[in-house]
Amino acid sequence: MNLFEALLRPVLFRLDPERAHALAIEALRCRLVPLPAPPADARLAVTVAGFDLPNPVGMAAGFDKNAVIAGPLLAAGFGFVEIGTVTPRPQSGNPRPRLFRLERDGAIINRMGFNNDGQERVAGRLAARTGPRGIVGVNIGANRDSPDFIADYVAGLERLWDVADYFTANISSPNTPGLRDLQGRAALGELLARLLDRREQLAAGRGRRRPVFVKIAPDLDNRQMDAIAAAVEGTGLDGLIIANTTLSRHGLRPGPHAGEAGGLSGRPLFERSTIVLARMRQRVGSLPLVGVGGIDGARSAIAKLEAGANLIQFYTGMVYRGPALAGAVNRGLVRFMAANAVARVGDLTGRRTGEWASRKLPEEG
Ligand SMILES: Cc1cc2nc3c(=O)[nH]c(=O)nc-3n(C[C@H](O)[C@H](O)[C@H](O)COP(=O)(O)O)c2cc1C
Repeated sequence: MNLFEALLRPVLFRLDPERAHALAIEALRCRLVPLPAPPADARLAVTVAGFDLPNPVGMAAGFDKNAVIAGPLLAAGFGFVEIGTVTPRPQSGNPRPRLFRLERDGAIINRMGFNNDGQERVAGRLAARTGPRGIVGVNIGANRDSPDFIADYVAGLERLWDVADYFTANISSPNTPGLRDLQGRAALGELLARLLDRREQLAAGRGRRRPVFVKIAPDLDNRQMDAIAAAVEGTGLDGLIIANTTLSRHGLRPGPHAGEAGGLSGRPLFERSTIVLARMRQRVGSLPLVGVGGIDGARSAIAKLEAGANLIQFYTGMVYRGPALAGAVNRGLVRFMAANAVARVGDLTGRRTGEWASRKLPEEG
């Protein structure tokens, strides 16, 4: 148990989860939380999609939806930070309550519904950003009432081009009706064609390219994974982020919030998201993959890399383990590499893909 878990967590967990989140953002913004310096170890450095990152550990989307604390998160030891999801127009999201802690499972259920300040304000905040340099990507999405979801992703690219280091098209939130349909082969093909065409135009006009990733769900069967791999092949997409929250409730202990609607994240998502990651690795060759879902320490981070991830991200782990988790995961990675004569973190990627891919998802019996 670390200092956060012993002292701060009991206080925060007595508050309504959204209030606790707002307080945590404020504390990080004002740098009220003293954090040990992240390890600067050459073995952690990794180059993915043209970026030289100090370490492979990223902040997942949804924690800093409005780009308020990108700098403090980089200072806390994250190798890169993904802000958003940002939609073209501001959006208040679903009615509260919409965020639930499942403490015994180390999990969260959320149905936030893309509450965010909108592209305009987020662009202004990113443009005014000071503090440590580092890679800050923007996760883009569609307004719930949009008549053309794909146009909203294209608008995100256009409006945020100058302030984002990379983009993630989030087509896997379970909380915007119809969004996940973009994962079908034809719809994904159309999204990629329109988005990546626009990317090439913008890159040619502004003289700088931006990597584009697509974030997919963990609730995919093998045929759906085949369809995604086929739609992605040859498009110039820079990578996949695997995975968003799950609609599955497999393995949850009975409790007051286990039946809430929304996406489940945290420990119960680890196995499922890691299996899907490994199976996608088998389908996409060397395409960069970012592994997300249930990482709560160095062990689970190492497993994600071994299953096939080039980079990793977490969100729920930060809620349960606190802001020192990024540094702790990096220190754990260094210890593991030293003990196992691994020269660099990239050498862990895919060492156990076959093993993970052959595990069964709960619905496969
Ligand atoms: C409260 C909450 C809000 C989230 N919001 C977003 C979001 O806006 N966009 C997105 O792509 N993912 C969002 N996510 C998903 C996370 O980025 C991540 O994919 C997922 O939670 C699994 O990782 P974890 O188990 O480490 O939390 C959200 C997750 C949580 C818990």
